[in-house]
Amino acid sequence: MSHAAAFSAPAPTTAVAARATDLSKVYGQGETRVVALDNVSVEFGRARFTAIMGPSGSGKSTLMHCMAGLDSISSGSARIGDTELNGLNDKHLTRLRRDKIGFIFQAFNLLPTLTALENITLPMDIAGRKPDRAWLDKVIQTVGLSGRLKHRPGQLSGGQQQRVAVARALASQPEIIFADEPTGNLDSRSGAEVLGFLRESVQAMGQTIVMVTHDPVAAAHADRVVFLADGRIVEELYEPTADAVLDRMRLFDAKNRTS
Ligand SMILES: Nc1ncnc2c1ncn2[C@@H]1O[C@H](COP(=O)(O)OP(=O)(O)OP(=O)(O)O)[C@@H](O)[C@H]1O
Ligand SMILES: [Mg+2]
Repeated sequence: MSHAAAFSAPAPTTAVAARATDLSKVYGQGETRVVALDNVSVEFGRARFTAIMGPSGSGKSTLMHCMAGLDSISSGSARIGDTELNGLNDKHLTRLRRDKIGFIFQAFNLLPTLTALENITLPMDIAGRKPDRAWLDKVIQTVGLSGRLKHRPGQLSGGQQQRVAVARALASQPEIIFADEPTGNLDSRSGAEVLGFLRESVQAMGQTIVMVTHDPVAAAHADRVVFLADGRIVEELYEPTADAVLDRMRLFDAKNRTS
């Protein structure tokens, strides 16, 4: 029996793509002091699709930025895989972000002088990695950019620019993708296509995705919804439906009104 245990499931750490432990983030001091994150502990499972929801100002973007190494933390710990971000110098942090993390920003952060295709492959070009051509084609086709690859961001609509940003994050198949309202600027059909594709990349390719959204229908594409309020995790929902998410949001609204 004892030797069987040696061949059992992999160590639990491999199932966690990213983890925050007692993570706090404080902006400013004195009168302008804001506790954006207040002792947040949360794990993001590998090959899982997690949605983050909560009112404006509840700390959603701050959590994503801290977990992706884009913002410093005030106390606690933020890890990608087994790597503690707090201890990394700038060079190592840059390398980790480049090699392991995809980020879809609310403002798309596209380079204006590059074409759509060049923007999509830029992170891999910088890293000296060749894109998997079949995967890249599939990503481009799914986000509906085949006819716009030679256009520059200034020649694209807002929704098209957002789709370039989504394709850029997915193209290199990073260990984890953080997406801050990736469908916020898309019409409902394009939004549904992008969400369906994110869902498929989790299911078929084992991609890990953490997505901020205000939309219960978007959240229903995720495996799990984590609700933030005032910098704290207040609720979690597994296998969410849009109706269940909406119910939960109404409940929080009612609580806020009575407190
Ligand atoms: N650079 C900053 N300096 C000072 N305070 C900040 C800074 N960034 C965010 N905050 C504050 O931290 C809190 C959390 O902000 P955050 O951007 O994480 O909210 P959010 O949940 O993403 O909101 P939204 O849904 O509006 O995008 C807010 O009260 C905000 O004012
Ligand atoms: Mg935000």
